[in-house]
Amino acid sequence: MASSDDEEWWRRAVIYEIALISFQDSNGDGKGDLAGLLRRVDYLKWLGIDAVWLTPIYRSPRRDFGYDISDFCAIDPAFGTMEDFDQLLGTLHDAGLRLILDLVPNHTSDEHPWFRESSASRSNDKSDWYLWAEPGGDGGPPNNWLSRFGGSAWEWSESRQQYYYHSFLREQPDLNWRNSAVQAAMSTVMRFWLTKGVDGFRMDASAVLIKDAMLRDNPPNPDANDKMPPPQRFTPVFTDDRPEAMECIELMRKVLDEFPRRLLCGEVQGKADRIGHFYEAERPRLHLPLNFALLDAQWNALSLQAAIDTYFKALPDHAWPDWVIGGHDKQRVASRIGAAQARVLAMLLMTIRGTPFFYMGDELGKPRAPVPRERVDDPFERLVPGFGLGRDPERTPMRWDDGEAGGFTAGAPWLPMLDDPSCNMLRQQNEPRSMLQLYRQLIALRRRYPCLAEGEYEPVRARNGILAYRRSLGETRMLIGLNTADEPRRWNCGVRGSRLISTYLDRPAEPVDPSILLRANEGVVVLQADGRETDPSDVANVRG
Ligand code: GLC
Repeated sequence: MASSDDEEWWRRAVIYEIALISFQDSNGDGKGDLAGLLRRVDYLKWLGIDAVWLTPIYRSPRRDFGYDISDFCAIDPAFGTMEDFDQLLGTLHDAGLRLILDLVPNHTSDEHPWFRESSASRSNDKSDWYLWAEPGGDGGPPNNWLSRFGGSAWEWSESRQQYYYHSFLREQPDLNWRNSAVQAAMSTVMRFWLTKGVDGFRMDASAVLIKDAMLRDNPPNPDANDKMPPPQRFTPVFTDDRPEAMECIELMRKVLDEFPRRLLCGEVQGKADRIGHFYEAERPRLHLPLNFALLDAQWNALSLQAAIDTYFKALPDHAWPDWVIGGHDKQRVASRIGAAQARVLAMLLMTIRGTPFFYMGDELGKPRAPVPRERVDDPFERLVPGFGLGRDPERTPMRWDDGEAGGFTAGAPWLPMLDDPSCNMLRQQNEPRSMLQLYRQLIALRRRYPCLAEGEYEPVRARNGILAYRRSLGETRMLIGLNTADEPRRWNCGVRGSRLISTYLDRPAEPVDPSILLRANEGVVVLQADGRETDPSDVANVRG
């Protein structure tokens, strides 16, 4: 088991998202699997992360990247067996790493036995496990609700002569969370994995668990225009983020809390105005509602400062922050802000107060990889084409070395690998100033200085293109200066101290003056001289 028995280990943890299908193949079928991941545990340990979040590994027809589950308590044969899973969990724990699984409570696959039974007739044990409704007045769908993946969110069932609701694909019917039998069934699923020893869940689509009982039409979005994907042309007040959905989250949190030291993070909706609700109000909800503020902000010092301030201010007392810079649904950040600023972002992520989340390949600066039309896998792209919504470019396989298919597979990769073959793990491991080395050193620095993980945060007004902030814990004071400009900028950090690390990784730790000339796209961490541990030769050890 992981070394610390601290109940709130996730406050200090660095969490790494792995989409298993694209991580490491072990059997040449072109798809990553559990045995492949097992082979890479040494890499995870070397990198220094604390916990892995795995996207769904359950039995699934995989119409939506495994988020269409036909058995919540079985491993998909493409990924291996339950023995493989148990071995992986044991190996991760022995290495001091934790494992978080995706939990998808909102919907199942239409191939799930629950749905097969529910859709067979109007009178069976599970007839009320999904959202069934009579046709609307014109004989068509019951109302105007749209699926995220395009078209009506209602699908006709011949056997029941009724419609069922699906927030996402028609092959992903939504469960009826008002039904206590559904609540009990999902609690059983959670206990199954928690009893095995998994360290928590990332709850999928947690804001849409409850839909309006009166099935009222969603109003048109007043800001709608032709450039918006059709589902966004309505304001989803009756389908998304209903207050009652919070009760479902509370219920699942209670199940989680039956087990010590487990984490519940979750995909939530809304921006800063909503984030507080997903933490605990009177009753605990999520430990960490995932925060994408850094991905949504414009990439310049002033906008970043505004986004960061707004987020911190929106947190209720005692709520712990988190920061997500990538994921299987999000455009690769290195492509958006460029390779040079991706290094600055890495420093921001690892030095700001809150739990960092990043996505496999971000540590290599992996860009979006083009996927030709005929190889598109993501239904989003096929069903709502023309809006750039496809997520395949972020889901292409990891590259481990210069070998064929980047050492990912001995066979044909399930998605084409048209990204730069030189952007691979081994090359960057051998290159002392690579992005990978930067990630590793920043994670090590964070571990060495609890001030970076847990210290107080205080913004310094952004000026001259430089985003800056102070961190402090006990007598330790640190200043972080991040030059978001592509040219040198002077930073008056105002203190004497030691520069512990630069995003360039080209200088040893050394004393610096209160006025520092930051190079283009450079970020630095300065340890204030009157703080503790000022001996640069000592701090240089973090490079270990
Ligand atoms: C979540 C997942 C996304 C999936 C959707 C439907 O948003 O992150 O990948 O398509 O749920 O399950």
